[in-house]
Amino acid sequence: MPTRLPLPAVAPLLLVLLLLLIIIIPARGGRIATEFVVPDFTASYLLFIDTFGVFLASRGGAFQAVVYNPGGQQDRFYLAVLHSPSKTCVWVANRAAPITDRAAQLQLTASGISVQDPNGTAIWSTPAFGVPVASLRLDDRGNLALLDARNATLWQSFDHPTDTLVSSQTLPATAAAFLASAASESDLSEGEYRLNVTAADLVLTWMGSMYWRLSNDARSTMDRAGTVASMAVNGTGVYLEAADGGVIIQVSLPAAELRIVKLGYDGKLQISSFASANSSATPIDAGFAAPSDGCALPLSCGAMGLCTPKGCTCPPQFAASHDGGCAPSDGSSTPPSVASCSGDGRGSSSSSPSVSYISLGNGVAYYANKLAPPTMAGGNVSSCQALCSTNCSCLGYLYDASSLSCYLVQHQLGSFMSDDSTSGSDSDKLGFIKVRSSQSSSSGSSKGTLIAILLPTILAFVLVVIIGAIVIRSWRKEKRRSSRPRGDLELRRHRSPSDSAHLVGAIDDDSDDVVIPGLPTRFTHEEIEDMTNSFRIKIGAGGFGAVYKGELPDGSQVAVKKIEGVGMQGKREFCTEIAVIGNIHHVNLVRLRGFCTEGQRRLLVYEYMNRGSLDRSLFRPTCPLLGWKERMDVAIGAARGLAYLHFGCDQRIIHCDVKPENILLADGGQVKIADFGLAKFLTPEQSGLFTTMRGTRGYLAPEWLSNAAITDRTDVYSFGMVLLELVRGRKNRSEHVSDGAGGEASSSSNGTTTGSSSRGAKSDYFPLAALEGHEAGKYAELADPRLQGRVVAKEVERVVKVALCCLHEDPHLRPSMAVVAGMLEGTMELWEPRVHLLGFLRLYGRGFSGPVDGGGSDVHLKQDGSGATTVTTMSGWPSYLSSTQLSGPR
Ligand SMILES: *[C@@H]1O[C@H](CO)[C@@H](O)[C@H](O)[C@H]1NC(C)=O
Ligand SMILES: *[C@@H]1O[C@H](CO)[C@@H](O)[C@H](O)[C@H]1NC(C)=O
Ligand SMILES: *[C@@H]1O[C@H](CO)[C@@H](O)[C@H](O)[C@H]1NC(C)=O
Ligand SMILES: *[C@@H]1O[C@H](CO)[C@@H](O)[C@H](O)[C@H]1NC(C)=O
Ligand SMILES: *[C@@H]1O[C@H](CO)[C@@H](O)[C@H](O)[C@H]1NC(C)=O
Ligand SMILES: *[C@@H]1O[C@H](CO)[C@@H](O)[C@H](O)[C@H]1NC(C)=O
Ligand SMILES: *[C@@H]1O[C@H](CO)[C@@H](O)[C@H](O)[C@H]1NC(C)=O
Repeated sequence: MPTRLPLPAVAPLLLVLLLLLIIIIPARGGRIATEFVVPDFTASYLLFIDTFGVFLASRGGAFQAVVYNPGGQQDRFYLAVLHSPSKTCVWVANRAAPITDRAAQLQLTASGISVQDPNGTAIWSTPAFGVPVASLRLDDRGNLALLDARNATLWQSFDHPTDTLVSSQTLPATAAAFLASAASESDLSEGEYRLNVTAADLVLTWMGSMYWRLSNDARSTMDRAGTVASMAVNGTGVYLEAADGGVIIQVSLPAAELRIVKLGYDGKLQISSFASANSSATPIDAGFAAPSDGCALPLSCGAMGLCTPKGCTCPPQFAASHDGGCAPSDGSSTPPSVASCSGDGRGSSSSSPSVSYISLGNGVAYYANKLAPPTMAGGNVSSCQALCSTNCSCLGYLYDASSLSCYLVQHQLGSFMSDDSTSGSDSDKLGFIKVRSSQSSSSGSSKGTLIAILLPTILAFVLVVIIGAIVIRSWRKEKRRSSRPRGDLELRRHRSPSDSAHLVGAIDDDSDDVVIPGLPTRFTHEEIEDMTNSFRIKIGAGGFGAVYKGELPDGSQVAVKKIEGVGMQGKREFCTEIAVIGNIHHVNLVRLRGFCTEGQRRLLVYEYMNRGSLDRSLFRPTCPLLGWKERMDVAIGAARGLAYLHFGCDQRIIHCDVKPENILLADGGQVKIADFGLAKFLTPEQSGLFTTMRGTRGYLAPEWLSNAAITDRTDVYSFGMVLLELVRGRKNRSEHVSDGAGGEASSSSNGTTTGSSSRGAKSDYFPLAALEGHEAGKYAELADPRLQGRVVAKEVERVVKVALCCLHEDPHLRPSMAVVAGMLEGTMELWEPRVHLLGFLRLYGRGFSGPVDGGGSDVHLKQDGSGATTVTTMSGWPSYLSSTQLSGPR
């Protein structure tokens, strides 16, 4: 054969070929492919070392597929997808099994992707498909997908989220779908934090205990009831959606093209927003972090550390430990091992021999207790301890003496926080950690064991009783020293304890021993007198009675509302309502700090809002003019507060008396709704009709006149009226300036709307002017003339339109408060007011007086025995009759 070359001749050729290969492979590997790579393809960190492992980019450049080496450590490499401008890792393939060598490869073949160890064993791979893989595609949403020859998706990374979701990705509400944090910044294996979508909520948990839930977050709004099927994130916010796609809970966020929701290795859920997915511009705002308070993170200060606003410390009898947390200073071991407790797992309820407790001091709170119901309610601190002692999984307990609530700490000990939320009752919150003293674990003959078990038990018991007695006595002494009556109250409580955990079962109307879990701090009348300096400074008078300024022992200011002359029935009803109100927390709702009920006296202690109510700032000529930006902030804040009342609480609350007098302001732009929950609570059975007329004229929806149901949309109407007053800067129906201004200013100071007088001749009705302005497309002229045009024209238009939508005569066609808030923020599409639903404003404006405060006549509602409401129109309503008298209890 003449063509056959002799072997020695082939050798140099092979060598050249080999050299060529060596040169070619890195050259080929070093180039980043765009959108697709096709089999057979190989990548390793070494092959793509020039691009730091990046081997594939999406078309717009927003995302990259990479052999990722987080933190620059050289022994853990992952197949990952990064958001390229921010270098955020949004997905990891082999988080549990990292590649341990930079030369180790990942391969794309017709059967899928496999990630290999240096010796060639696959440590991670995609499942087997019936059809061959034609390509691997990374799209501009960040989804890495395997496609077949017809471009159908065989497998995609969006179905297997790790610790991150990006816009357009959804997380179903199934047990198998959850986000798990990374263990650390450079170790992407599963850490201990979880994000789950449950049937009702979005929750963050650590070692099985919940530390945050969306529905409890002030920034969320609930749109409707229903079962959550999935979580989705997109350009306008985060949504929990029902199976039909309807939104159940949402967080509206500023418009953005891309959002990345990441559960950090520290347990914090961070949402970053990017105006453009592939631009390197910085995120559009600081973003959204949950929980918003750093101390609410389970390990904010390490195990058993104490998180305070000033930083991390250790509880009194604890010292810093080597692992970054705290440990008992006396060297006792904690947590006690489960085996030593349950006697090899058999006797589950036998008391442990060598268990004792170390106090955490007063005023401590635990992150897990904020969201979970107490393990036991109504017992005393000893019964709480007994419960912990007999439960092997109990690691410690927290006891709240003001609500008689007992919380057991389970699973794992995290950080504690100093409970600054109820500073008046610091010493009511006690915490104890279960410890095992070091001399335990002795084993011998059965007799020896018995003694070894019995003796410490008795000793421990005696010790616990003594310590308990000392603690309780010194605690009472301290209480008595600071406030005598308080101690008496505690004594009374202890004398007749009730084991009933049932909410109202334990309440006796005639005694002072009202026991309701979750009740806010209860004050004696003497304490109230102390704090208000015997009711010296009166700061207002609402529909219920006078409001006084006061100061708690810790120096924080409060407003004390004396409730008088309204049908507040028994103590039981009162306390039940107080427990509900006291448990509503939202940045835009005035917080109830405590209450007092003694004999016939009923007082409520609220946080103090130093700028008073909105009507002052808005209508009083002597007050500094509210700028347009502030008015927008007030509108949005108040809308959010109301939306929370309507949808955010377990029990839907309709305010029934939305008006500027009930919107309070404080420095720092705080806006809060006051007096909520004082109208009757809406239970499902009574969600229709109210038996007494509530609310205040001028803000009353037309359905108050008809027999139509009073719903949350009734508040929406009133809020619409408030919005118009915010725009115009005066009452919607103003008396004539000559005889109205002075009286208006003085009467609104005591928190009630003056009964209109028949004297006011022609009163111009602003809602009608707003409707006409809308029809003419002239919005800017509607704004408060005192602002002299210093307004944002687009926003004036927006607010007027939203207000008019709120006034729609048909309640069903008014937006919900959540939608109102979204529209005001500009995060939801603006509705167009329907003019034909607003015709009644012309009637109100031209003399006829509806439920709206009239110029020459007014309307009186009466209820006869049969429950039918009669409407009487009265002329010349005397000016001295206040709205309260017309409206009845609010
Ligand atoms: C961003 O993506 C768009 C299309 O998605 C593209 O037109 C634009 O060039 C990209 N910008 C950069 C900086 O890559
Ligand atoms: C490959 O190497 C890993 C350690 O890097 C080892 O655990 C595994 O057993 C090896 N597999 C084979 C088939 O040698
Ligand atoms: C698959 O998608 C690519 C890129 O969009 C396109 O070029 C190709 O023609 C598609 N193949 C089929 C079978 O549709
Ligand atoms: C969250 O998901 C994990 C994993 O499926 C599960 O073990 C845990 O119980 C879930 N937690 C909740 C609160 O649903
Ligand atoms: C985001 O999703 C919600 C709920 O599905 C939807 O109402 C909204 O229009 C979406 N926003 C964008 C920008 O797609
Ligand atoms: C605590 O309550 C139990 C009954 O539940 C009672 O036997 C015990 O005496 C009470 N202890 C104190 C200190 O009041
Ligand atoms: C310990 O208490 C928890 C509730 O806090 C309970 O779920 C568990 O069953 C208890 N264990 C025993 C052994 O009683």
